[in-house]
Amino acid sequence: MSAREIVSAEGIDVFYGTSQILFGLSLSVSEGQTMALLGRNGAGKSTTMKALAGIAPPRTGRIRVLGREVQGARPHRIARAGLGFVPEDRQVFPEHTVEDNLIIAAKKGPAGQDHWNLARIYEMLPLLEPLKNRMAGNLSGGEQQMLTIARTLMGNPVALLLDEPSEGLAPVIVERIGALIRKLRDMGVTVLLAEQNMHFCLGIASHATVIDKGQIVYRDSIEALRKDETVKSRYLAL
Ligand SMILES: Nc1ncnc2c1ncn2[C@@H]1O[C@H](COP(=O)(O)OP(=O)(O)O)[C@@H](O)[C@H]1O
Ligand SMILES: [Mg+2]
Repeated sequence: MSAREIVSAEGIDVFYGTSQILFGLSLSVSEGQTMALLGRNGAGKSTTMKALAGIAPPRTGRIRVLGREVQGARPHRIARAGLGFVPEDRQVFPEHTVEDNLIIAAKKGPAGQDHWNLARIYEMLPLLEPLKNRMAGNLSGGEQQMLTIARTLMGNPVALLLDEPSEGLAPVIVERIGALIRKLRDMGVTVLLAEQNMHFCLGIASHATVIDKGQIVYRDSIEALRKDETVKSRYLAL
């Protein structure tokens, strides 16, 4: 029996104005998978994430969350359906404390899930607790990245969409973010992880989908990709 599909795109075309960015793209993430979405800069990773989250709605094709069609729905409705999107620009409320940022984001999941609360977040991300009374705007880039992931978890999503969480961060912070995603994976959280850097995804992701020029060009286990020199040299910057 195959695992339940949590989120999928089927044959989506996405445009910015008159320029087409995604071409009949299909992608599926099953329960408990940690799916890496890999591709060079400009390949369409962020656009794919934004399409799933309702920020760049597809002109044609379907998007499903837990089997329900959500294409064309507003981003807040898709969030309520269970997609927890962490965009690359790390949106926190800078004038609010870390703890207020977490409290504001608290909600139950689509089936009433309430696993995540402040205590569980601080247990998972112990670095945040001593910062709880700090203004979010005064955190370092790495701390803000942790906070945006934590805020999204407070919404009890059925899948977490992370757009290049390691981008622009110091190696020691990148390592911590990797450890956090591994912990989430081991808890069974479903993750779609957009990354340019395949090495970051090794030891984290279970599966890999490769995107190039707005189309999916490869899908397999991350281990199979690791050994595939042709695909790596053709589609990934290594
Ligand atoms: N707001 C936008 N308006 C027009 N073109 C855009 C916009 N955002 C991204 N693009 C273009 O869409 C393509 C895919 O971008 P993006 O999805 O951000 O790629 P990636 O995340 O893989 O680097 C690129 O050619 C980029 O220049
Ligand atoms: Mg991007």
